[in-house]
Amino acid sequence: MKATTARYGEDSWAVITGSTDGIGKAAAIYLARQGFNIVLVSRTLAKLQTVAKEVEAEATKAGKKIKTKVISNDWTKNFDAETHTSMYQQHLKDLDISILINNVGMADAGDFTDLSEQQIHNMITCNVYSTALMTNQIIHSFKRRFEKNNKIRSLLINTSAMAAIVPCPFVSVYSATKIFGDFLLNGLSIELAQYNVDCSAWRAAGVQTKIIGSDGDIPPKEFGMATPEEYVTAGLSKCASGVHSGYYFHEFMHLVWTNINDIAPVELCMGFFNNMLRGMMAKEMAKKKKA
Ligand SMILES: NC(=O)c1ccc[n+]([C@@H]2O[C@H](COP(=O)([O-])OP(=O)(O)OC[C@H]3O[C@@H](n4cnc5c(N)ncnc54)[C@H](OP(=O)(O)O)[C@@H]3O)[C@@H](O)[C@H]2O)c1
Repeated sequence: MKATTARYGEDSWAVITGSTDGIGKAAAIYLARQGFNIVLVSRTLAKLQTVAKEVEAEATKAGKKIKTKVISNDWTKNFDAETHTSMYQQHLKDLDISILINNVGMADAGDFTDLSEQQIHNMITCNVYSTALMTNQIIHSFKRRFEKNNKIRSLLINTSAMAAIVPCPFVSVYSATKIFGDFLLNGLSIELAQYNVDCSAWRAAGVQTKIIGSDGDIPPKEFGMATPEEYVTAGLSKCASGVHSGYYFHEFMHLVWTNINDIAPVELCMGFFNNMLRGMMAKEMAKKKKA
């Protein structure tokens, strides 16, 4: 089912975290073109304001008149329950929020023993706390709109990763944070079904954004990689509940990985995937050291 205002409500709002770049920004533009009002939540206020203008302009080009709101929050610094409650009370409480995309994420690669306490803290607060606490706040909106109209639906998406299927060396903390989102979402898909909430986790496997580039650069497009626009278009075209990968090539990889993971002895699986990833990461780290 496509994410349309006919399904999720005319004049309703989509809240997207990590929306000044990559997948989050592409999702904001896609949903604005569909006619959703957009709340952009990210770390840098100036970037948020620029992206908000871009999102409004894209909606206008598509013949839609929408509103935007920006919230700047750095989840490595402000991750506590109090911050989330005040963010909700100040900016979100009175909006008819139909969509939440928990997309913000950061990934520091490296030997676990070389990661600093701060890096570990940042990945966990940004990837885990933000997902659980944003969801906890915005569920109030989903419930409220259902109580007003029991035909209306809402949508919850967590941007997950293939790294949630098999534990990955050199990105072990990141990989562990991603399975948290999948578990949370799968549980909520049952709990929230009574309020008509569709719950999707997108397990991305390579989207052309700075998170997977060296030193924050956008990497060149390699075989099997999706642009953020291709990735988001595929994901938002089928909003059924469950864990999936959206983009056709990632869907295929997802099928292969999950099936191998299910039928092969765990040691064999881990050995195979870990060796492959170890090789890739070792090359990447050697490049970084040389630079
Ligand atoms: N790209 C892939 O291949 C891939 C694969 C698997 C999963 N994913 C997942 O997809 C999601 C989106 O990643 P992306 O590829 O679109 O990455 P991206 O291009 O690096 O975008 C990340 C976004 O998150 C924001 N952000 C980062 N750290 C933040 C913080 N501490 N506080 C607030 N905002 C912060 C950034 O804001 P600024 O503009 O201020 O930096 C940016 O808007 C992540 O959850 C990632 O794990 C991506």
